[in-house]
Amino acid sequence: MKVVVTGASGLIGRGLVHKLTARGDELTILTRDPERARKRHSLASSDARSSAERHAALAFSRWSPLQEAAPAEPLAGQDAVIHLAGEPVAQRWSEQAKQAIHDSRVLGTRNLLAGLSALAPSMRPRTLLSASAIGYYGAHGPEPIDEEAPPGQDFLAQVCVAWEREARAASELALRAVQLRIGVVLDRSGGALAKMLPPFRLGLGGRVGSGEQYMAWIHREDVLDIALASLDDKRWSGPVNATAPEPVTGAVFARSLGQALHRPALVPVPSLALRLLYGEMSEVITTGVRAMPAKALVLGYGFAHPSLGEALRAVLA
Ligand SMILES: NC(=O)c1ccc[n+]([C@@H]2O[C@H](COP(=O)([O-])OP(=O)(O)OC[C@H]3O[C@@H](n4cnc5c(N)ncnc54)[C@H](OP(=O)(O)O)[C@@H]3O)[C@@H](O)[C@H]2O)c1
Repeated sequence: MKVVVTGASGLIGRGLVHKLTARGDELTILTRDPERARKRHSLASSDARSSAERHAALAFSRWSPLQEAAPAEPLAGQDAVIHLAGEPVAQRWSEQAKQAIHDSRVLGTRNLLAGLSALAPSMRPRTLLSASAIGYYGAHGPEPIDEEAPPGQDFLAQVCVAWEREARAASELALRAVQLRIGVVLDRSGGALAKMLPPFRLGLGGRVGSGEQYMAWIHREDVLDIALASLDDKRWSGPVNATAPEPVTGAVFARSLGQALHRPALVPVPSLALRLLYGEMSEVITTGVRAMPAKALVLGYGFAHPSLGEALRAVLA
């Protein structure tokens, strides 16, 4: 398959590039900085025997998602586009940061679609797989919710609504459009878990806020395999929760992480401290949603890591 990937140097993108090249797909990476992306991907390739072959299957093209329509030449004649690019959400939300979080997703996706619509229909990819987030649902109580649930009202929910709206416009260009509402991706090399590990390793970890908020997590392998399944299987379309089937409360998550590390996890982090540190962004951590992967389960996706204890042991092994 010939696939274009944006945001390929990120936590999810690096894993997807590895999996796609390993199975023989040809990739074109659209990035703000092709030189840096090329270096990252050569460093990320640990399999010496096949790394030369894999690099032959990687091309890099420059694209500034906020400034211009995606370039026609690297998009033309491809089978699919995987769109992951976006300003990191886990930072203090100054007005400038919020603008960047919004614009990199909403304008970035609009500019991607502008590039796709400029192509002759016969040259357009058939599928657009676009990232979204469980932040779509806003803060919820303990009730389980699936893809049918309405969106929340907070900043992140509104960004996700606008981001998905732009991505869904791909169906007007006859592309199959899938929006992955991704949960908290568990991996050692980045994302939320990498930030939690240092205090937990010192025995200074614990629940955040009340600990009653639900956390819809997913092991990185599963988010990558769900992305591949939705790329390959035409039955997948529209919003898909990319979350494990057993979301847990913050208190259970802290206890499980402590157990996986053989450390006590008894030092609670007060909501106020997080608020002082991260401002409004802290609500992403102190509230949550019990999002269930209803669509993935109906479509027969089998989770490699459905339970948190085992998933954490696998991540930390
Ligand atoms: N990781 C998670 O737990 C999680 C959870 C829910 C949703 N998601 C969503 O899934 C997508 C991928 O996640 P990730 O964790 O792999 O992201 P990431 O590690 O933060 O990487 C995102 C990529 O986006 C590009 N990017 C960064 N800032 C940008 C900006 N201001 N404007 C345009 N492009 C920018 C970068 O690629 P270049 O430098 O090559 O351009 C970067 O490699 C994101 O949209 C994220 O919101 C992730």
